[in-house]
Amino acid sequence: MTARLIDGKAFAATLRDRVATAAAAFARDAGRKPGLAVVLVGEDPASSVYVRSKGKATIAAGMESFEHRLSADVGEAELIALVDRLNADDSVDGILVQLPLPRHIDERAVITRIDPDKDVDGFHPVNAGRLATGLEGLVPCTPLGCLMLLQDIHPQLAGLEAVVIGRSNIVGKPMAALLLQQSCTVTTVHSRTRDVMGHVRRADIVVAAVGIPGFVQPEWIKPGATVIDVGINRTDAGLVGDVDPGAAEVAGAITPVPGGVGPMTIAVLMRNTVVAAARRAG
Ligand code: GUN
Repeated sequence: MTARLIDGKAFAATLRDRVATAAAAFARDAGRKPGLAVVLVGEDPASSVYVRSKGKATIAAGMESFEHRLSADVGEAELIALVDRLNADDSVDGILVQLPLPRHIDERAVITRIDPDKDVDGFHPVNAGRLATGLEGLVPCTPLGCLMLLQDIHPQLAGLEAVVIGRSNIVGKPMAALLLQQSCTVTTVHSRTRDVMGHVRRADIVVAAVGIPGFVQPEWIKPGATVIDVGINRTDAGLVGDVDPGAAEVAGAITPVPGGVGPMTIAVLMRNTVVAAARRAG
């Protein structure tokens, strides 16, 4: 059996079209476009590429893009003062501070300074708490994108066994919370789990977010399971996921790397921005 490939690129393009329609409706009603501010500290090449892509996607969706590039030696107080200005700026609906930040800046102090209702990354503890308790908030882009892909394949997620590999605040924890909200039976496995394979073998849904190239082995996968590969690992062989490509021979459906989860992240960021704008106006 060969798995159905989940076309995240096509799904993301459809989502971006829907966001553009919603952004145009917002602009008609509010007399201004939804606005996303992206803050980049330093010149990390990968972060620069991400920030440029986010700006382009924002404009393509008919929204206002505000880019703030600060030098790598900017002080924490100055960065926080910028966040305060963006919080107070009514033309800004979403604020994203690109991570990682230079080591002399306390990431937590910056993230917690962002107005939770403008926190389109969903990283603020208030939004993590809202997600955990089922309140309306802003949800981290990558796990929400994974959930959208999963819902497309499994319109009814309730009761399915889901295993999330990895427990980061950015992907693993919010992913597990989203799947629990959908009434999946959720197991999170991590570096201290005794029998990772034993857990994965039982899963109808596997979400791999560990950042280890080819970590998930084909023989771990239950035949027919749906596999979402969040890994984007740069290796000598190019971009590879967290799942061994042989898993495509066992799974029922699987996301390719690249072209699976990756394109969803920016599309959901656009979605979160228009959602934040609508809620702030409403
Ligand atoms: N760095 C890598 N991915 C992300 C992301 O989704 N959000 C932010 N703010 N920084 C990142």
